[in-house]
Amino acid sequence: MSSAERTVQISGSTVIVCPNAEAASRVAAESIAATIDSALKSRGKAILGLATGATPEVVYANLAARHRAGGLSFQKVVTYNLDEYYPIQPIDPLSYRSYMHRHLFSRVDLPANQAHVLDGTVPEAFVREHTAEFDRWIEADGGLDLQLLGIGRNGHIGFNEPAEWSVAEAAAAPTRLVELHPVTRADAVREFGDAAKVIPRALTMGVKQILSARAIVMLATGPRKASIVAQALRGPVTTAVPASLLQTVADRVVWILDEPAAAELGS
Ligand code: F6R
Repeated sequence: MSSAERTVQISGSTVIVCPNAEAASRVAAESIAATIDSALKSRGKAILGLATGATPEVVYANLAARHRAGGLSFQKVVTYNLDEYYPIQPIDPLSYRSYMHRHLFSRVDLPANQAHVLDGTVPEAFVREHTAEFDRWIEADGGLDLQLLGIGRNGHIGFNEPAEWSVAEAAAAPTRLVELHPVTRADAVREFGDAAKVIPRALTMGVKQILSARAIVMLATGPRKASIVAQALRGPVTTAVPASLLQTVADRVVWILDEPAAAELGS
């Protein structure tokens, strides 16, 4: 970490504030590479939970560059992605499987059968079986060493959207099929090009699995995230802001922000 970053504790979580998004992405990539290294040393494999979206693109570019430079292998890494649109074909350029292929899987030596993304082609009658199986695979692998997260403008993590259920119910939510929140659908127009084309449902890893990760890295950059970051870190734990549930496992969470995303945190 360079001296340009500052680290503070908020609601029990570590918060690293970087001068810009590139520096924040580099710190996130460093943390993932360090987790891979230590998990390989202690258990011979590393289990990563990964996110998609605009925010982590530079993180994946950084990890791919480290791989090309010879310092980082994914041979013994197993990955589980947070979410996938439903229904969608994996070869659809808008699928998160395609996103991961473009940004990471095709650029590193991760064996194909160790890169797991929820399957948007499963018949609806079998979705429950598929999502339960996804949770079982993670558990059989010994749980996630690190979960990389982004935050939606409505506070979602994965596609666990704001909801009117209790904190206990949300914290127990398994991997499942969900309806996307209007804010999430509006933000997805960036990818789909047209509001009418946005796929309104998705498969998402549940909050239970996310909160069970041995380390959670939340990366948020840009001024559009400032308000929700402050609510999630400083506000009450509420299912109206799903990322606020990270406060319940605060000692395992590191927030990596750029200055614009940290702007409403106060001192
Ligand atoms: C993506 C995911 C979402 C995003 C969030 C932020 O796999 O789970 O929760 O992390 O919507 O997206 P961006 O980075 O595009 O602002």
